[in-house]
Amino acid sequence: MKKLLFILLTAGLILGFSSCSHKDIPNNALTLIPQPQEMKVGADHFKLTRRAAITLDTSNPQLMGIARYFNNKVTSATGFEIPVEKHGNIEFKLTDDTALGTEGYRLQVKHGDIIITAHQPAGIFYGVQTLLQMLPPEIKSSREQKGIDWTIPCADITDKPQFAWRGLMLDVSRHWFTKEEVKKYIDELAEYKMNVFHWHLTDDQGWRLEIKSLPRLTEVGAWRAPRVGQWWQREPQQPGEETTYGGFYTQEEIKEMVAYAAERQIEVVPEIDMPAHSNSALAAYPHLACPVVKEYIGVLPGLGGRNSEIIYCAGNDSVYAFLQDVMDEILELFPSRYIHIGGDEARKTYWEKCPLCQARMKKEHLTHEEDLQGYFMKRMCEYVQSKGREVIGWDELTNSTIPDGTIILGWQGMGTAALKAAELGHPFIMTPARIMYLIRYQGPQWFEPVTYFGNNTLRNVFDYEPVQEDWKPEYTSLLMGVQGSMWTEFCNKPEDVDYLLFPRLAAVAERAWTKPELKDWNGFLK
Ligand code: ACM
Ligand code: ZN
Repeated sequence: MKKLLFILLTAGLILGFSSCSHKDIPNNALTLIPQPQEMKVGADHFKLTRRAAITLDTSNPQLMGIARYFNNKVTSATGFEIPVEKHGNIEFKLTDDTALGTEGYRLQVKHGDIIITAHQPAGIFYGVQTLLQMLPPEIKSSREQKGIDWTIPCADITDKPQFAWRGLMLDVSRHWFTKEEVKKYIDELAEYKMNVFHWHLTDDQGWRLEIKSLPRLTEVGAWRAPRVGQWWQREPQQPGEETTYGGFYTQEEIKEMVAYAAERQIEVVPEIDMPAHSNSALAAYPHLACPVVKEYIGVLPGLGGRNSEIIYCAGNDSVYAFLQDVMDEILELFPSRYIHIGGDEARKTYWEKCPLCQARMKKEHLTHEEDLQGYFMKRMCEYVQSKGREVIGWDELTNSTIPDGTIILGWQGMGTAALKAAELGHPFIMTPARIMYLIRYQGPQWFEPVTYFGNNTLRNVFDYEPVQEDWKPEYTSLLMGVQGSMWTEFCNKPEDVDYLLFPRLAAVAERAWTKPELKDWNGFLK
């Protein structure tokens, strides 16, 4: 009898260890961002040791890449590598089952082994991200951490994102970022399971990528007078003045960063802004401005006042030929499904006075300059679409006839202009300035570094719910997702960017991935 009891107890213990009991362990015992959709946490744990090995289909280069990524994340702190072997205790398993979608995963952590199952490599990658967050925080150290037990709580997690578009826009025009700084942010996005890096590469204050057929874009357009002081008070550049602030990415560097992002399941969506926010291009090629512009055009060191009203001439065919040349190289550099062509904040001051613009309106039977912008955007849109890509534009595209097939990025106020597009069947993305512009103050204004546009706290971002109760059901099905937008007018060094971006980026990720009914502010804060 005693023997039988012993056998039963031992069997129970073994079974308990190997399957993990899920009793009485609250889910928020795990501090994960974004919060998974479904999880059960067990009392036992898996211990990562130098005897660990990964098993996967070695003929799949993406899975091999994820194993390398996992090693890069754990080797420095643990001091050991986790090889790929035939019978390892960590399995990356692709399944034919489509229930998890293209990005979902199931992560099972048991005492003796870990299995990540997904339909696509992206899901395996996100399972790895969850696993990394379940390790002790010392795993992030770049130096070997002695005396740490690398334990992972037993758990069974089934997870997939709420939105297909989980983005961050980074403005590298107003503040110049080195390649390594940009990579750091791409890495952060991956850790939060975000999948779009919207790269705002051109604006009045700098043109940031090499276009081989138009060398002046970077020789001239990437550099500005090194003004300091308040953004809106900086004097425009004078003719002949030395321009020493700035920089640009070579085409090789762009390719390197696109590949770096792709290894992290992130699509890089380039934005080439037009017809406004183009002083850096016009400083290089001033004949592309309306001929009525008599002012000197320089790269703007600050907000720029009236100079920011100088935009591409919509009546000059050379402008379209120039932008098509730019696009030809952009399409070679960026394999993304989507290309962003701007369209925001175009003042029509010069178009109203320009004989070429007015002649174009007459020829195209346009009665208002807003429709001239509609013509401009449509022409460029069709060019990009003819090369097999989809086009995104800011919500000003709803001011005129929206080009067919365009996706609208809602930004003004609460982004509701995008709903005008949804009404016509256009897909849309939300980055409302009121909440998702990470340039705004996130604490008491007397305490925070100078910025503008009022407050937008961590809680505001966390509480953001893009889908509104009064929305028609069609709107919800056209909503592709949400993104944060990191404008950098007030950033002078990387720390300034970090200050604005964190911790709000974590809340953006939570909003983008997790279903609203799972919102748990206290768990998130923890
Ligand atoms: C924007 O903030 N001008 C898109
Ligand atoms: Zn003109």
